[in-house]
Amino acid sequence: MLLIDGKKTSEDIKSEIAEQVAKIKNQGGKTPHLAAILVGNDGASQTYVNAKVKSCEQVGFESTLVRLDESVTEAELLQVVSDINENPEIDGLIVQLPLPKHISVEKITNKIKPEKDVDGFTPANVGRMTLGWPAYVAATPYGIVELLKRYKVETSGKHCVVIGRSHIVGSPMSILMARNEYPGNCTVTLTHSRTQNLAEITRSADILIVAIGKPEFVTAEMVKEGATVIDVGIHRIEDATRKSGFRLIGDVKFDEVSEKVAAITPVPGGVGPMTIASLLYNTLLSAEGKVY
Ligand code: GUN
Repeated sequence: MLLIDGKKTSEDIKSEIAEQVAKIKNQGGKTPHLAAILVGNDGASQTYVNAKVKSCEQVGFESTLVRLDESVTEAELLQVVSDINENPEIDGLIVQLPLPKHISVEKITNKIKPEKDVDGFTPANVGRMTLGWPAYVAATPYGIVELLKRYKVETSGKHCVVIGRSHIVGSPMSILMARNEYPGNCTVTLTHSRTQNLAEITRSADILIVAIGKPEFVTAEMVKEGATVIDVGIHRIEDATRKSGFRLIGDVKFDEVSEKVAAITPVPGGVGPMTIASLLYNTLLSAEGKVY
């Protein structure tokens, strides 16, 4: 069994980005600059945003973190986005999700200038990605594509089954895997919570991408021998034997599934670290003017 190491791959990518940033700085070019907006005190969101800011430092980017109170109005948040849109110093902008209920995610997302939308969430970038035009591709799907590429997973003509239809992962993933380029050219089945006979479908998958958000949902009897399994899930569960008091598990029952498959991503250390590497990469592309 091949363990697809997202932690190491993300470190490789960050080194490559750092090298490119050093080159840009040497030539007197502009230092890439990522801005992140964090609204409220959601624990997971704070962890993610802090990790993003720290990674910016690691590769030599500038970063700006805008923290706003849970009570911020939609109009105020729209204004902050607008200010960053117009700030020529800033190359990329992300608004960490989820947002408080009184704020429309659609309105905020639609306010982000597509040229700075390094999360790839705006209609412009989703549309461009779907058409195969130059685009910022959402970080998690992009990270998975990069893992498949760097581990040389064969995809052409294979059956790729995606579990989960979110706008952030499942849906874009299904589009990317069907594209007429590597990694892609798959026959794709996009499944979700209403899918009937799910196990029958997943058992025919050569590549199984799991983003359903349910701990250890995929069991050994749901996978084909020799398949490649990508686990996007991340869940904290209590574990008194750990110093931290918890451990992380994915959407896949790793111990039993890993016995049966050809390749699998672990949790932690699989897809997770790749999302930040992708975000940094998109920000570099923006600073270099390579997408728009
Ligand atoms: N919340 C969960 N995943 C993401 C992501 O990729 N970007 C942002 N901005 N928020 C998220």
